[in-house]
Amino acid sequence: MATNRTFTMIKPHAVAANAIGGITAMIEAAGFRVVAMKKTQLTAEQAGKFYAVHEGRPFYGELCEMMAAGAIVPMILEKENAVADFRELIGSTDPAEAAEGTIRKNYALSKGENAIHGSDSDENAAIEAAFFFSEREMY
Ligand code: GTP
Ligand code: MG
Repeated sequence: MATNRTFTMIKPHAVAANAIGGITAMIEAAGFRVVAMKKTQLTAEQAGKFYAVHEGRPFYGELCEMMAAGAIVPMILEKENAVADFRELIGSTDPAEAAEGTIRKNYALSKGENAIHGSDSDENAAIEAAFFFSEREMY
């Protein structure tokens, strides 16, 4: 996957709160193009694989349970400097520390239920995108 792309996922509590449109509007207004998008649901086992990097952390079980609790909206996004610019748009992991104008400031409920995921590197963006989308869906 190109380095001008990142991967994101709207988390279950935000989908349940009818925030797909509001969050996607913020993403598009910030200049990202939606390359791929779908609504789906993870099993706890799939959530565990997706967040395997956090295995062993105290919040791992809670995280996997939360991510499998309802529908999610994974997306591939495109923009120059996508990974870093998107991390800035979503804001800090803990909404108490998230800046004004960020997605988490507007939509996160807590450090766990923080509305949205954003890849932390080009390499992980490509791995995470391939978790949900086939090559021919990334256009
Ligand atoms: P992602 O974009 O989802 O990867 O978030 P992040 O990069 O800002 O944070 P990190 O990768 O460190 O953690 C992954 C996810 O685990 C977070 O988005 C939270 O949903 C959850 N998480 C992280 N730290 C905590 C914590 O201390 N408590 C709880 N309950 N959840 C946490
Ligand atoms: Mg992370």
